[in-house]
Amino acid sequence: MKHPELKQKFNEIFPAAQAPRLFCAPARVNLIGEHTDYNGGHVFPCALTFNTYVAAAKRTDGKIRLYSLNFEKTGLVEADINHLAHDPKQDWANYPLGVFWAMQRRGLSFDGGADLLFWGDVPLGAGLSSSASIELAAAVALNTLFGFGLPQTELAKIGQEAENKFVGMNCGIMDQFASAMGKKDHAILLDCNTLHYEYAPLDLQGVSILICNTNKPHNLIESKYNERRAQSEHALKQLQSKLDINALGELTEEAFEQNKELITDPVERKRAKHAVYENRRTLLAAQKLAQGDLEAFGKLMNASHISLRDDYEVTGKELDAMAEAAWQQEGVLGARMTGGGFGGCVVALVKNEHVENFKQNVARLYQAATGYRPDFYAASAGDGARELKD
Ligand code: GLA
Repeated sequence: MKHPELKQKFNEIFPAAQAPRLFCAPARVNLIGEHTDYNGGHVFPCALTFNTYVAAAKRTDGKIRLYSLNFEKTGLVEADINHLAHDPKQDWANYPLGVFWAMQRRGLSFDGGADLLFWGDVPLGAGLSSSASIELAAAVALNTLFGFGLPQTELAKIGQEAENKFVGMNCGIMDQFASAMGKKDHAILLDCNTLHYEYAPLDLQGVSILICNTNKPHNLIESKYNERRAQSEHALKQLQSKLDINALGELTEEAFEQNKELITDPVERKRAKHAVYENRRTLLAAQKLAQGDLEAFGKLMNASHISLRDDYEVTGKELDAMAEAAWQQEGVLGARMTGGGFGGCVVALVKNEHVENFKQNVARLYQAATGYRPDFYAASAGDGARELKD
């Protein structure tokens, strides 16, 4: 399947519908700044050239019909535009339905409804934000078809609201923001406290960004994710008994060290430590990239993984085995888990001439340690959610 065929497929699945328009939204990889977004810190993701594509057209009878060529078992999902509700049976379709719902909450109306056909080449369940790319593909399609004129940053917020309040996953803004705002050959340094952002050119001088998929599905992520979030929020509350701060991301390491005893639970203290130190590492990493110091950038990635392993405790056996295998290889500047954790992917910076050896050796070591066969993708930074015109 290739995305140009999607319009033709649309006509097969939705005969008699209006002629569709084609849109896409990318997945993302986060280079550094993990579990900092909902802690009011910085993240440093880039959008990828893996995308979710959607062919979409308006209807006239108040219905929404959704179909995905990636989830054919679910079949056609039909909903009434005036009665949108989450339903586990709707499976993947809860993501785009949540986008309709979040737009309605902003007072936007969809007249007669719409038909949407999805297909994507994003690896699913790999922690590369396939769900955010579905949300943003839907959001950019509806924004364009219905002429709402919302800015891309607003589409990101709509995607996050769909996921938080309709799907029920309490994620931060990073994934939706990266999918909405991605820029070819650039990473995005985003302050999640203010949504101030800057594009950073990814000038990697003979170094590749390799994504190493553990192929361990990241199940259970939702409950553990929400637990980490609650622990960080409680730690913040205790710090606020003395400090005038709104988020852990506002603290320097020094301020944290001076006040950490306010956090009574040692586990919550570790969580907060990660959030504070990871935020500072992210800012430093962006500086190092701008100076062309990829060696220093790589070391910060390694430190990030160790902190996620020991203090935030979101890595697990497979991600640790992959990172450790990566660290041993020649030509590796750094490697760390990326995304929510508990399975999913490691991201590594590898000198181009060592990439082939890296893949072979890491695959062997990782498979011996875990029994899973990994996949590797060379990442290139791509553009954000948009219409594709012929
Ligand atoms: C998931 C969430 C993001 C972010 C990361 C961890 O990808 O969707 O909002 O919190 O985990 O950095």
